[in-house]
Amino acid sequence: MALLIEIGHGGWYSEEELAAELQKLDPAADIRTAKDPGDLTDVTMMAVSTLKSDLPSRLPNLQLVQKLGAGVETIVGHAALAPHVRVARLKPQEPAREIAQYCLAYVLRGTRNMKYHDAAQARAIWDPVAPRRPEDIAVGILGLGHIGGLTAKLMRDMGFDTFGWSRSQKALDGVTCLTGEHGLTGLLSSCDYVCAILPSTADTRDLLNGERLAAMKEGATLINAGRGDLIDEDALVSALYQRRPGHAVLDVLRKEPLPQTNPLWKHPCVTITPHVSGWHLGDALGDVVENLRRLSEGTALLHEVDRARGY
Ligand SMILES: NC(=O)c1ccc[n+]([C@@H]2O[C@H](COP(=O)([O-])OP(=O)(O)OC[C@H]3O[C@@H](n4cnc5c(N)ncnc54)[C@H](OP(=O)(O)O)[C@@H]3O)[C@@H](O)[C@H]2O)c1
Repeated sequence: MALLIEIGHGGWYSEEELAAELQKLDPAADIRTAKDPGDLTDVTMMAVSTLKSDLPSRLPNLQLVQKLGAGVETIVGHAALAPHVRVARLKPQEPAREIAQYCLAYVLRGTRNMKYHDAAQARAIWDPVAPRRPEDIAVGILGLGHIGGLTAKLMRDMGFDTFGWSRSQKALDGVTCLTGEHGLTGLLSSCDYVCAILPSTADTRDLLNGERLAAMKEGATLINAGRGDLIDEDALVSALYQRRPGHAVLDVLRKEPLPQTNPLWKHPCVTITPHVSGWHLGDALGDVVENLRRLSEGTALLHEVDRARGY
């Protein structure tokens, strides 16, 4: 029963760092990295950030792929993953809080006129402009799961008029919870800020197409911290000309890293951050070794994903 870690990209935790952390949590566990995997027939569990390689097809005893985060879109339908292989994710508090704070930061950037004051300072202009009151501002959250739910509560607690949209009906105190196409259009047309924290699935890809973007409130800000393929990026560029939305804050893009030639980089109404809104794993690594243990014991896994549903 070995756990094999494969990260496959730079700019985050390395395989060695993660292996060392996990080994500390369970010194007896057989933990390996993709760079030095040993006998592949021992491997029953993989821990990955993005599943890009065909490694699963060379692991005859693989039973579980553990996502080291939330979004499982590169795993659930991966061609090299046999149907019986199970998939689990993490539900850490720390990155969920980080993403909620990211959304709040960009909401406040607008409501507190921070961009305006930066520009005024550059010209040595003293121009007091009243900030907007939170209760006069509608903030909508697309996705009310682990991260979106926390974000909605944070916005509500900050005094914003808060809306949320999810697949199944939710009940959150002080949040107007919506579902379905009608609910989505209602949220888009009434919110000054729309924070998208949806998974990438067959149902959410291109959800924010030209038609739905056109339904947004004029001058609204769209913040995407979920997955890049939610938004039709060509349609977004056209929509920005119509000021629906007036500004887009994109932490996630269809192609990452965003190619240097992509016009979104230089668009005056677009803010790009390089997929950093949620970063730290916090204490969630404990759940990885716990799932390795549960797999060996045959007990229920933590945060198992429905592969058919896609999240
Ligand atoms: N930018 C970053 O650094 C970063 C970091 C972590 C995660 N993420 C992204 O954030 C996503 C959300 O994470 P999470 O932990 O909150 O996931 P989650 O707990 O699974 O919640 C997903 C939410 O989306 C809703 N949803 C899914 N499909 C939908 C559809 N077709 N229509 C309407 N609502 C739909 C779900 O509705 P129900 O509640 O009804 O099921 C649920 O409320 C992840 O999948 C990942 O892609 C990004």
